Amino acid sequence: MTFQGIPWTLYEDENTRFWVHYGTVILGFVLAIITAVAQWKNPAPYGKHENKDVNWGPMIPQRLGHILSDATPGVLLFLLVFFLYGESRHYTNYVFLSLFLCHYLQRGIIHPLIMNYRNSKVPIGITLGGFVPNCIYHFINADFVGSAVFNNNYFYDPRFIIGILLFISGFIINRWSDWKLKSLRSTKGEDQNLKYGCTGYYIPYGGLFELVSCPNYFGELVEWLGWTIATWSLAGLVWGLFSAATFVPRSQHNHKWYKQQFELYPRNRKALIPYIF
Ligand SMILES: NC(=O)c1ccc[n+]([C@@H]2O[C@H](COP(=O)([O-])OP(=O)(O)OC[C@H]3O[C@@H](n4cnc5c(N)ncnc54)[C@H](OP(=O)(O)O)[C@@H]3O)[C@@H](O)[C@H]2O)c1
Repeated sequence: MTFQGIPWTLYEDENTRFWVHYGTVILGFVLAIITAVAQWKNPAPYGKHENKDVNWGPMIPQRLGHILSDATPGVLLFLLVFFLYGESRHYTNYVFLSLFLCHYLQRGIIHPLIMNYRNSKVPIGITLGGFVPNCIYHFINADFVGSAVFNNNYFYDPRFIIGILLFISGFIINRWSDWKLKSLRSTKGEDQNLKYGCTGYYIPYGGLFELVSCPNYFGELVEWLGWTIATWSLAGLVWGLFSAATFVPRSQHNHKWYKQQFELYPRNRKALIPYIF
């Protein structure tokens, strides 16, 4: 497929692969809309929004849950699809593979192993709620970056340069913010002035926490925006939309939660996007 201005070609003569790819892209788009509506009504019941009245299935260790939901699709499935199903082997394909793996080795393995979760267990429904969409979106992204034939001079294309810079900036913001959240619990001990007895949470300060309640989500959103621009693909776009469908409502729920729990919560903070939302 080639249109003017698109820096790659994909499935020039393979009808089946074309329809598998773009059919899954459409599914991903629909799933993003359903997720936004569902999450807006009720936040997924883990962490601050854990809800013992709702049954999401048997409990499993939280660290294992996150490894299953994130590392299996983000590392294992991605590698399998890239190497066994993908067909294009230009440097650009490997740059995209490395960026994705960087994020998911961190998110799917290091992050669950080092975080201090308040509850060591999570319902299996939460794990599956991450695992299933991740498989769908990571399949199309691995298929895209493993199969697209990029123009030879794509490294100099503004889309590539701007996208990579956004991805790296978002990654740094996301990592720093998650590290800051982790350090709150290790340095402050047991409790702070929470109204509703939800112990172990603190008001985070510093960096982008001065502007928004959820800079970790903001950072990740910037990463996927960068990914979408750099890959210039519908696969990247629907994954970015799905991430936004999770982060926009959840950051709003988190922001409300902070304001309810902490009397001294800074009033000037926004939920997700500095000065805007
Ligand atoms: N791409 C996607 O669709 C997607 C979806 C969800 C998450 N993620 C990513 O996954 C990572 C974790 O997400 P999350 O939803 O678990 O983030 P989170 O609710 O901000 O929690 C992150 C960690 O910090 C702890 N924590 C949060 N607020 C705290 C506070 N005020 N005081 C002390 N500790 C606090 C949490 O403990 P508790 O667990 O005990 O609350 C948890 O261990 C983020 O990097 C996020 O970007 C990606």
